[in-house]
Amino acid sequence: MSKSLNFWKERNRPFFALAPMEDVTDTVFREIILGISSPENLNIYYTEFTSTDGLCHEIGRDKVKHRLFVNESEKAAHKKKGTKIVAQIWGRNPQKFFQATKMINEEYQFDGIDINMGCPVKKIVKQGACSALIGEPELAKEIIAATKEATDLPISVKTRVGLSKVVTEEWINTLIEANPDSIIIHGRIQKDMSENKADWTEIKKGLDLRNQLNPEIAILGNGDVFSMESAHKKIAEYGVDGVMVGRGIFMNPFFFAESLKERTPAEKLALLWAHTELFDRTWKNTKNFAVLKRFFKIYINSFKNAHQIRASLMETNGIDDVYKILKESGIEFEPI
Ligand SMILES: Cc1cc2nc3c(=O)[nH]c(=O)nc-3n(C[C@H](O)[C@H](O)[C@H](O)COP(=O)(O)O)c2cc1C
Repeated sequence: MSKSLNFWKERNRPFFALAPMEDVTDTVFREIILGISSPENLNIYYTEFTSTDGLCHEIGRDKVKHRLFVNESEKAAHKKKGTKIVAQIWGRNPQKFFQATKMINEEYQFDGIDINMGCPVKKIVKQGACSALIGEPELAKEIIAATKEATDLPISVKTRVGLSKVVTEEWINTLIEANPDSIIIHGRIQKDMSENKADWTEIKKGLDLRNQLNPEIAILGNGDVFSMESAHKKIAEYGVDGVMVGRGIFMNPFFFAESLKERTPAEKLALLWAHTELFDRTWKNTKNFAVLKRFFKIYINSFKNAHQIRASLMETNGIDDVYKILKESGIEFEPI
């Protein structure tokens, strides 16, 4: 890929990105969100994090490859809208990053690769991966170099500002030296997990360093942005090149839509049904139906009887049950 096709370099306007989220941002949810988002408001989205050890293992690969699966209908939709899709990978062995990235290049059509250096989950950190790499700057640099060597796709790193204490300056300095195309800074340390507030003044420190040392690298801020209005405020206040949004999408699936108008119950039911059908078509019986249940509250809320409908939906065991509950709700909706 030539430099001119590196989307991180197109910085004439801010980036708005949907965060990688395990068991959430699969091909089904991404396609549903893409369908209701404006391309102006959603520029980049990510797969779930995918293990480089898994991808490089003959048997393990079958267990993780669903995380990188992209439906043909999603491919068509994101090409039409121009939204960029980035594969996120994690691990701690540079050779495996090299090998996994080569494989992704050959078998998939992603627009970029992201290296997870931020996940705080203890069982992952114990393996010395993700946010644990904040404590191993030399290894982190080797991983970035190995990934860059394997592909012409742009590389981003998603990270936090420390492990047990805040080390923004030295850590972001390390990443800037490794020269990825973008750094996404989540304003918490590993120890915080999802507690405490994300500290955007730390994100700003990373941005100031970038301005001094390598203005070519795009810096996105992440943490506690729960509306588009708040995303714009963060850009104005802190000067970041863009904002990444995670849990905000749970509060409002229309987060990136063109209009902020309140959606009707019928529109919300139609969206849940579209998700349910696409989930069934895509995963058949390979994914546990329980995974779908976490989406019910994303769509079915803020209207009369929403609570009862949701409670009934939580009792379902399959797609036919879901359809029955939606029909029995008395809310007429047009399948989309
Ligand atoms: C359910 C869930 C799954 C997540 N999975 C990932 C993941 O696979 N990779 C990653 O880098 N971050 C993951 N995260 C972290 C988010 O990408 C994001 O950094 C975090 O939620 C903070 O942003 P927010 O305040 O906008 O939610 C996950 C978060 C949630 C809530």
